[in-house]
Amino acid sequence: MEPSLEQLLHAAAEAFADRFGRPPRYAAAAPGRVNLIGEHTDYNDGYVLPMAVDRWAVVVADRAAASSTLWAVDLDECVTADLTATPSPIPAGGFGNYLLGVADQLAAAGAIPNLDVALTGTVPIGAGLASSAAIEVAFATLLQPLLGVDLGPSELALACQRAEHVFAATPCGVMDMLTATHARAGHALLIDCRSLRVRPIAMPPAERIATLIVDTGVRHDLADGGYAECRRRCDDAARGLGLGSLRDADLGLLAGSTLQGRVRNAARHVICENERTLLAAGALATGDLETLGELMFLSHASLRDLLEVSCPELDAAVEAAAGLRGADGIIGARMTGAGFGGSVVALCRADGAEHLAGTLAAGGAKCSVVHAAGPARPLDLA
Ligand code: GLA
Repeated sequence: MEPSLEQLLHAAAEAFADRFGRPPRYAAAAPGRVNLIGEHTDYNDGYVLPMAVDRWAVVVADRAAASSTLWAVDLDECVTADLTATPSPIPAGGFGNYLLGVADQLAAAGAIPNLDVALTGTVPIGAGLASSAAIEVAFATLLQPLLGVDLGPSELALACQRAEHVFAATPCGVMDMLTATHARAGHALLIDCRSLRVRPIAMPPAERIATLIVDTGVRHDLADGGYAECRRRCDDAARGLGLGSLRDADLGLLAGSTLQGRVRNAARHVICENERTLLAAGALATGDLETLGELMFLSHASLRDLLEVSCPELDAAVEAAAGLRGADGIIGARMTGAGFGGSVVALCRADGAEHLAGTLAAGGAKCSVVHAAGPARPLDLA
């Protein structure tokens, strides 16, 4: 059984008290996310359809005197810094850079005090479930009341995205942070990453349809180059089409262009993935799960063949899922998140979820059922 948010908060508070010799006074949590469809579209001003999941990053803190101690309980890693001065990224700084980056961004809104911080959680790292965004948004959510500011969900998400760009050197899009700040329990979110308009769409009842995460165990690191390379290809494609972003491209424009090879393929992926995402949102809203499932499989094929961000383990899990379609209970499956490893998301009939998880896990993957969770929030320690 996954620990509940209350249990996580309790564990974090206990760990904090053990280490720092006093109870924490502030706490906040933010969810991870699974993206149902709309992959590598957010940084092209496109559409995404993620849902927040009941896996959390939890931070607890209290004011500290001379310097800040930032402690990742589960990794047992510690970073010491002066949050009242302008922080700079730590070389190979891991989780610490997410917290420092957020402090750096929010410093414009108010003076950051020094803090002792303990961080824990259940969003697996590097599994494609947006663990870094969950950490950033949780810490930003904890800091806001201390600074007496409330940026609102979209501005807060943008501040966390900037933190990641500057402190983690990852040119990520804004999907993960927006999902954490705008989430609604029981719903997926259709997000227009250009206007930042968010439309919640109800997921089918969890008793009927399960959302399964198949973690291949293959770990990616967004900062290791593949992701940035993808972004570059998309930017080159937009430029080659005479556009500011691929959001404004269509297949007609592509057909008449001179784009070649992988740059052309990237453009085709983004154009079609945006279309698929809008169709998928419509299908989810009207309960047409068969269409939604089909679109998920098509999305995976495009990420594998056109954008080339899948890997053999992800392909094998999606293929295994495809073999269990229809009567066997799988509705759709695809890789989720940046790719290069991480997880597959599968929608399946809930009564068969356990059996399906067993079959998919046979290849060594770890399967878990997740539920659409609510947004980041401050937590009450009383
Ligand atoms: C990562 C990034 C997101 C998004 C996805 C791919 O999760 O953080 O912004 O680009 O990859 O869709």
